[in-house]
Amino acid sequence: MSISRKPKVWVSQPLFDDIVVRLDEYFEVTATPEVTDHAPEAIAAALRDADGALVTLNDRIGKAEIADAARLRAVASVGVGYNNLDIAALHARGIVVSNTPDVLTETTADFGFALMMAAARRITEAEHWLRAGQWQGWGFHKMQGADVHGSTLGILGMGRIGQGIARRAAGFNMRVLYHNRSRLPEAVERECCAQYVDRNALLAQSDHLVLVLPYVPANHHLIDAAALATMKPTATLTNIARGGLVDEDALADALQGGCLAAAGLDVFEGEPAVNTCLLACRNVVLTPHIASASLSTRRAMVALAVDNLVAAMGFGPDAGRPPSAIAPT
Ligand code: DGY
Repeated sequence: MSISRKPKVWVSQPLFDDIVVRLDEYFEVTATPEVTDHAPEAIAAALRDADGALVTLNDRIGKAEIADAARLRAVASVGVGYNNLDIAALHARGIVVSNTPDVLTETTADFGFALMMAAARRITEAEHWLRAGQWQGWGFHKMQGADVHGSTLGILGMGRIGQGIARRAAGFNMRVLYHNRSRLPEAVERECCAQYVDRNALLAQSDHLVLVLPYVPANHHLIDAAALATMKPTATLTNIARGGLVDEDALADALQGGCLAAAGLDVFEGEPAVNTCLLACRNVVLTPHIASASLSTRRAMVALAVDNLVAAMGFGPDAGRPPSAIAPT
């Protein structure tokens, strides 16, 4: 008599128990009880015996991690960016990979806009100064920043989140320029009131530049010393995409040398470690990768990742059709 067993699923981080519990209906679940920085060998060991995995952007999965994962059929990542996954290697093994776009678009666009405003108007710098007891009385020349309203916003990477930021800019009467791998359809440009320009023009003309593009090897340190030198010294730079897009030493030099007015950074190349030169700059707002971190959005991301995993493994109402599988290129 054959004993049918439930497929095994590994959940790499504690998420929301009341959502993740849905996996129990279909799978034997091994959950990670504490936030864990898994070593590559630990990920390989967890995947060796797994049919599916629910992971986050902290968990790097490439060829080595799946070398012995003979049964692995699906990896569902919680997050829209997936530079932690070697998609080509996973697809080459027939593993279905999914991410969580759409559900985080508006929350992330809110945060990008807030970070840009905080950098432009020197909000955290002013708060640190006040908390340090330096405020001796109202000062006419104190903490003068850059206007957001009526200025030129540059968006590098005009996917869903970039478009969300552009829509917000309309309320601030901003001129919106963008650059993207491919130009958007005219109707979308019209809806976002955004004008396509080449990358050099975007850097040169933006008063506030926001990075929202995917991090792929070709984009490594896209914003380097040469790129920063083409920006206005009064401009701000906001990065809510991935830290590796920016040469952080060059950015710190530009911020300290008066070549750039301010920056807002939610992501860092070596996160959670933050470049010490950046930590020393007073004119940079630093946040710990929280652009999508509203409670309802983080819950929606986990719910979508669970749906993806269940469907990719052939169960549930979308069996075989995960709502946001990443297409092979
Ligand atoms: C993502 O989903 O890629 C974000 O960076 C998480 O906040």
